[in-house]
Amino acid sequence: MSARHIYLDHSATTPVDPRVVEAMLPYFSDIYGNSHSAHSFGQRAEMAVEDARETMARVLNCKPSEIIFTSGGSESDNLALRGAGWTRKRADGRDHLITSPVEHSAVIRTVAQMAEVMGFSETILPIGSDGMVDPEDFAGAVTPQTSLASLMYANNEVGTINPIPHLAALAHEHGVLFHTDAVQAGGQMPLDVQALGVDMLSLSAHKFYGPKGVGALYVREGIDLLPSQSGGIHEDGRRAGTLNTPGIVGMAKALELAYAEHDARVAHYQTLRDALIDGVLARVPGAHLTGHRTQRLPGHASFILDGVEANMLLVHLDLKGIAGSSGSACKTGNPEPSGLLVAMGYTPEQALTGLRLTVGMQTTEADIDYTIDVIAESVEKVRALA
Ligand SMILES: Cc1ncc(COP(=O)(O)O)c(C=O)c1O
Repeated sequence: MSARHIYLDHSATTPVDPRVVEAMLPYFSDIYGNSHSAHSFGQRAEMAVEDARETMARVLNCKPSEIIFTSGGSESDNLALRGAGWTRKRADGRDHLITSPVEHSAVIRTVAQMAEVMGFSETILPIGSDGMVDPEDFAGAVTPQTSLASLMYANNEVGTINPIPHLAALAHEHGVLFHTDAVQAGGQMPLDVQALGVDMLSLSAHKFYGPKGVGALYVREGIDLLPSQSGGIHEDGRRAGTLNTPGIVGMAKALELAYAEHDARVAHYQTLRDALIDGVLARVPGAHLTGHRTQRLPGHASFILDGVEANMLLVHLDLKGIAGSSGSACKTGNPEPSGLLVAMGYTPEQALTGLRLTVGMQTTEADIDYTIDVIAESVEKVRALA
């Protein structure tokens, strides 16, 4: 095993900031009441939850009542799509959904399920070779039946940022509701929902140095949601289940810190990301950047590497203490190519060579130099073995 531990998988998850842990600690065994209980124990928890909602609303530039707490990005996506899609279908009969082939499976599979079993129709837009949605394609796909579009803010595998304000404005010209999955954008990109013009936006705390298993859905006032999880009347009847007070407090703290420190963090990420991209492209023959060169997440580097199976490369990197990821799901040793890279126009063989490295607050320049050296070395080894 290597003595070094370099974590370059911040798109998968981030460590919890110690300041966030500290903010959460009292809510496990000291202020442990159920925020829905009327007694003082419950009231103290409720105050913490409502403070957290206000903190998040300040970052998102919305009303606190427009934030629904959930168990994470997947649930937020499910609630937005099924909740708003179903209500609208019942209200005015519109039943056409638009999304893209590079969305997270929490969106793609929810839309597919709505089409398969709930009587919706779907359009999956084409995608550019840079992973971006073309507003013209989007405008061309809208019909009088279109109720809801879901297009992600930034992509998890190649980091490409979509032109959300433009896409949301187009949707509204045709009376279409616009949801964006901002799970990867959270902490790195502006989240002002008025400037973005979105109707719904999903977040997940563990992508911005908050805890796992907690997220939020912004829902613009006036949009009626059928709860996708029914039960108690929590969250104004929009999401049943006892609230995760420590998680919610932690998420709000993490979001507040991310935006208080936004400029410094982004500058740090960008410097390291650019050094990584430039280094890999210069030192590794047959390496190509995937995704958009400039319209990409500040901490995100992704490549395809001619003739190098990414899952094999990741094993070599792991032995040298470097954690990265590939887009290919490995099933019983027989990896499936990344559907996203195929949708972007790469062949299935190329799509098996996709490597994603995402930097974070603790990543240093020395980590990046070492990583470039190790990738250059390991790529040669993997190619020699092929
Ligand atoms: C773009 C995107 N959406 C949704 C999710 C799901 O979030 P969670 O893990 O909180 O369910 C992820 C997680 O990787 C993601 O990258």
